[in-house]
Amino acid sequence: MEVLGSCVLFVFSFLATCAAKDTITVDQAIRDGETLVSTNEMYELGFFSPGRSTNRFLGIWYKNVSPQTVVWVANRETPITDSSGVFKVDTNGSLLVIAGTNDSVLWSSNTSLVSLTTIIPVAQLLSNGNLVVRENGEEIFVWQSFDYPTDTFLPGMKFGKDLVSGIDRRFVSWKSLEDPYPGQYVGFMHTDGFPQLFEDNGSVPYTRLGPWNGGTFNGLAKHISNSIITHKFVFNDKEVYYMYTPVNSSVMSRVYVSPKGNFLTMIWIDKLRKWSQYSNVNTDTCGRYGLCGPYGKCNMDNSPVCSCMEGFEPRNPVNWSASEWSNGCRRRTPIDCPNGDGFQVVKNIKLPDTRQSWYNRNMTLGECANACKRNCSCAAYANIEITNGGSGCLMWSGDLMDVRTIDESQDLYVRVAKSDLKESTSRSTSNRRRRTIIAAVSILSILIIGILFIAIVCAWNKKKRSLVETPAQTIDKEYSMEIHEDDTELSYFSLTTISKSTNDFSDDNKLGEGGFGPVYRGVLDDGREIAVKRLSKTSRQGLNEFKNELKFIAKLQHRNLVKLLGYCNQGDESMLIYEYMPNKSLDLFIFELNRSSILDWSKRFHIIQGIARGLLYLHQDSRFKIVHRDLKAANILLDADLNPKISDFGLARMFREHENEANTKRVVGTLGYISPEYAVEGTYSEKTDVFSYGVIVLEIVSGKKNREFSHEKDRDNLLTHAWRLYVKGTALELFSAHMRDSCIESEVLRSIHIGLLCVQHHAKDRPTMSSVVLMFDQDSVLPQPKQPAFFAKGSLPSDNSSFANEVTLTTLEPR
Ligand SMILES: *[C@@H]1O[C@H](CO)[C@@H](O)[C@H](O)[C@H]1NC(C)=O
Ligand SMILES: *[C@@H]1O[C@H](CO)[C@@H](O)[C@H](O)[C@H]1NC(C)=O
Ligand SMILES: *[C@@H]1O[C@H](CO)[C@@H](O)[C@H](O)[C@H]1NC(C)=O
Ligand SMILES: *[C@@H]1O[C@H](CO)[C@@H](O)[C@H](O)[C@H]1NC(C)=O
Ligand SMILES: *[C@@H]1O[C@H](CO)[C@@H](O)[C@H](O)[C@H]1NC(C)=O
Ligand SMILES: *[C@@H]1O[C@H](CO)[C@@H](O)[C@H](O)[C@H]1NC(C)=O
Ligand SMILES: *[C@@H]1O[C@H](CO)[C@@H](O)[C@H](O)[C@H]1NC(C)=O
Ligand SMILES: *[C@@H]1O[C@H](CO)[C@@H](O)[C@H](O)[C@H]1NC(C)=O
Repeated sequence: MEVLGSCVLFVFSFLATCAAKDTITVDQAIRDGETLVSTNEMYELGFFSPGRSTNRFLGIWYKNVSPQTVVWVANRETPITDSSGVFKVDTNGSLLVIAGTNDSVLWSSNTSLVSLTTIIPVAQLLSNGNLVVRENGEEIFVWQSFDYPTDTFLPGMKFGKDLVSGIDRRFVSWKSLEDPYPGQYVGFMHTDGFPQLFEDNGSVPYTRLGPWNGGTFNGLAKHISNSIITHKFVFNDKEVYYMYTPVNSSVMSRVYVSPKGNFLTMIWIDKLRKWSQYSNVNTDTCGRYGLCGPYGKCNMDNSPVCSCMEGFEPRNPVNWSASEWSNGCRRRTPIDCPNGDGFQVVKNIKLPDTRQSWYNRNMTLGECANACKRNCSCAAYANIEITNGGSGCLMWSGDLMDVRTIDESQDLYVRVAKSDLKESTSRSTSNRRRRTIIAAVSILSILIIGILFIAIVCAWNKKKRSLVETPAQTIDKEYSMEIHEDDTELSYFSLTTISKSTNDFSDDNKLGEGGFGPVYRGVLDDGREIAVKRLSKTSRQGLNEFKNELKFIAKLQHRNLVKLLGYCNQGDESMLIYEYMPNKSLDLFIFELNRSSILDWSKRFHIIQGIARGLLYLHQDSRFKIVHRDLKAANILLDADLNPKISDFGLARMFREHENEANTKRVVGTLGYISPEYAVEGTYSEKTDVFSYGVIVLEIVSGKKNREFSHEKDRDNLLTHAWRLYVKGTALELFSAHMRDSCIESEVLRSIHIGLLCVQHHAKDRPTMSSVVLMFDQDSVLPQPKQPAFFAKGSLPSDNSSFANEVTLTTLEPR
């Protein structure tokens, strides 16, 4: 009554104040029909009925979201069957939900204040959706709904346990969309062994997200950290929890366990007035807990998905071959610890269930290996965190459960019998007799080639011992060593083979001139077409780039990166052999009128997205963090189906996990694509590539070269021109006129918008590639770009000779 009364009293002058009421004291109450609203107007508390149900529940929902999206329910087990509900705070600090018809308490928060006489409790709905009870004027919460969640995990909430008070925040699904009664799916932090996130179906494990690896939960298929959401994991003596925060606090997001058991992250798209699914943890078959049984390994790329770990075999082959995997695998050979065994590495996996694990966060991998070797009940070990080069020690006892392959994840070292260790390396060659013979022959020929090679190198060294080493020689040693170390599957091509395939490097076969020498097209005897990059003998600078390229590209594999087939180094010749790209490079299409019609809009959009995915792989998804540094249309090759492939890794740099920025005295790259901070200060980061990407996007859309662009009226470059059109609301004019028929306007506009975001002056204003990829995939609202960076003509050395055309390197001194 009090609330209503005061509302009516001030209804004319203080309507807003009234509507925004966010607190109640002991002498006030919220009746069915009235609400509390958080100060930022995002959340609202009151009585509601879900769906077609007539039962009334006290809950919290988003104020301006329709259909009503409830994030918390008080009396989820005890509905009120009529509209007599009352919500109030008791003198002792308890929140109560009372059925007005018979005054029975249907729900109580069971709080009790320390001192009843001196403290006046107040209940408040905070702007983050947390309903709290606190002493009037104090900031200490006596009770908070964030400690007693229902099915929804909001930003700022702690998903996990308070180890001191014992509060365990579990997320329990609704029974159905129309009944908040606790359902069977429960998300929680398991703290037996090393903490890990679990979802149970009833009392049975359903999905396991795995332990935190420093950047994400080890079992998440994709790293979902980016510029939209940031993650935090805290684990100390007092508490263990996971928390997420949207970068922009006014973007509404929630994670919840649906009545069907899906673990979903949703983001509210204001423009469309609807929730958009951002991620779903357990969509695939391998997400099912323990699908492949003990010592089994699940891989979505295989069929069937289950296999045994190296050194293990199906426990029950009949069931196993009938895709009944729950019995799992057993050792091929029983282990004879501590002398008859060793450790088999299982690469890129989600670590096994850590409930039976032991850990020490200070130990290194080496110490971990020793500790595990010494203790025969240790079945496997691994690093805890993979960031910063790996740290911490996790050791397992008992069966290894719920392992799956995940790209670019952790390595696990599993104890197996010595005999199984050896077998795993030679098994592939011992299958069939025929294969054995072939293998023997090839091993022999490799040996002969190897001996010859060594002999040549020795002779060479002898001959030149007194002379200064030539670049080619240094590279021989270094990269044969690198190749050996990395165990890559690169083929060696002989000079004769290459020479023959390219018609003795004839001019007719020349495709162009690369950064460090000419590129030739070749056809091998088996009909395969190749592209040969030949290091010119005089290029001292080229040598480093050449080595660099070999180092990087050999380790990378992605459908949007050009594939290295092998190398050749013989005498003073050094060559890289690539798959041949019949359609050459992107610039030949977009900038040349007669060919540009081949690329209609849908192909262009496909290329724009393909480049983004290739770059994302370089920046984040590959085993290394790599900045390309010379991204440009001429370095994007097109295969027969016009799929884009990033090439030319001569200037690429690898970053360590924690490094984000580096500085160089020697600025290299191509004018028109270099970001301002790189050109001027020599600092580069992944955002340097993002800038170049933005330029390429605008070039693809406009069909104009940034460097050569000039607009009739003003002396704008392409970026400024695009921005001016964007601001005027006529961005579509940027799009090549002769292609307007084929275009989908929304895609063109989105591309221009993203392109502009990528070419922002400050690196921090540019999105990461993971956001860019997401921006294409999702119909979300994009941030507004500011005026882009642009080099007004003359702000850079205009001596074009140092930027000789297209493929050549540029060298600028920092100012
Ligand atoms: C009181 O009334 C509510 C109706 O909303 C009902 O659910 C509840 O069972 C009743 N309790 C008692 C003790 O009668
Ligand atoms: C607090 O209030 C509730 C409901 O009125 C009551 O059940 C409980 O006993 C009270 N606790 C204390 C400590 O007074
Ligand atoms: C409060 O205590 C009562 C009686 O012990 C219990 O039935 C009820 O579930 C508790 N409420 C909450 C919200 O824990
Ligand atoms: C959860 O378990 C129940 C039986 O306990 C089963 O019927 C249901 O299919 C399971 N849910 C899923 C998604 O597997
Ligand atoms: C945050 O999002 C809101 C709504 O989407 C938007 O209006 C605002 O500009 C954004 N703020 C920032 C800093 O991006
Ligand atoms: C596995 O095979 C055995 C017999 O070989 C059979 O009795 C058992 O039911 C099978 N297990 C499952 C889970 O199918
Ligand atoms: C780990 O190292 C920290 C500081 O380096 C130390 O305080 C802590 O006691 C160590 N913990 C263990 C388990 O050795
Ligand atoms: C070996 O490991 C087990 C399980 O982790 C542990 O209980 C036991 O104490 C360890 N033994 C030694 C000697 O460290």
